[in-house]
Amino acid sequence: MPKQRFMTLPRHILEGEKKHPEATGELSALLSQIALAAKTISLEVNKAGLADILGFTGETNTHGEQVKKLDMFAHEIMIRALDHGGHFCVMASEEEEDIIHIPSHHDIGKYVILFDPLDGSSNIDANVSIGTIFSIYKRISPEGTPGTLEDCLQPGTEQVAAGYIVYGSSTIFVYTTGEGVYGFTLDPAFGEFLLSHDDIKISKTCSIYSLNEGNYKYWNNGLKKYIKYLQDADDQRGKPYTARYIGSMVADVHRNLLYGGIYIYPADKRSPTGKLRLMYECNPMAFIVEAAGGRAICGHRRIMEIEPESLHQRVPIYIGSEEAVNEVEKYLKEYGDVDLTN
Ligand code: AHG
Ligand code: MN
Ligand code: MN
Repeated sequence: MPKQRFMTLPRHILEGEKKHPEATGELSALLSQIALAAKTISLEVNKAGLADILGFTGETNTHGEQVKKLDMFAHEIMIRALDHGGHFCVMASEEEEDIIHIPSHHDIGKYVILFDPLDGSSNIDANVSIGTIFSIYKRISPEGTPGTLEDCLQPGTEQVAAGYIVYGSSTIFVYTTGEGVYGFTLDPAFGEFLLSHDDIKISKTCSIYSLNEGNYKYWNNGLKKYIKYLQDADDQRGKPYTARYIGSMVADVHRNLLYGGIYIYPADKRSPTGKLRLMYECNPMAFIVEAAGGRAICGHRRIMEIEPESLHQRVPIYIGSEEAVNEVEKYLKEYGDVDLTN
């Protein structure tokens, strides 16, 4: 029996903390709470086809999009799993316009969490992979007081941990504290996440690109030329790139992390700042991909160095294998495509 079979997520996190004598064990505890929320959401996702959970709530979220019931379920589970642990001083979710206050007496924790409770929600009804993304910071406001908006609006470089859970053919929890990226697969028999992807590294080169090509007519010239270049077989590569686009960022980036690839949600003529949210999607995925040896830029700048201005700010993103990101960056620069709003 392979040795890693019993490397559970809580044990892995604890062993990681032991390497840092100054660690208090708090990060381990809060990551375990996120894992508990993930198991609950995973169960509900698996039941989605059976229960009355399908369909729209009829409400719209802060971005004016229709919200499915499972989004709200995941949002509420995250809050309920995390707001009484004493680890956080404030939270923020893609599904809520303002910061989420922690009930008093529990709101004096050292950490801040931002999350996208369910990413790829347009895929729910089709039984296609979806996920949860989270990003953790240390508070900047004084300890012992309730957390603030400023605690939430820190640049991605300040993240102390980030991760995602993909609800796919199996449920996988991937996290980093900046030193290595680790993946755990949920064993439905044990109800436990077991180490399945040790020290994930993204390959420097790749042959997969992922973006919504239906938006072609809105793209700027640099992106058009870059994608054309990927589709052409050149002397060096021999064959063109393969296109793979699921429409759930978390699943697209997860695949690219394992196989190598570049994921793009660009700025274009219709959406000059792109679609994806800096705080809930781009920063955590950038932290993970960089920790695995890749790159993440918004065009002309590293995603994690953007100074956030608002909770639901959108930014363009080009993320994945280092050489592919270097290449797209060259094209964007050459054709003056860079988004100057960031
Ligand atoms: P969410 O379901 O959290 O709103 O996020 C959807 C995002 C992202 O996951 C995905 O990659 C992208 O939207 C898909 O957008 P298009 O349908 O425009 O391609
Ligand atoms: Mn999302
Ligand atoms: Mn979402």
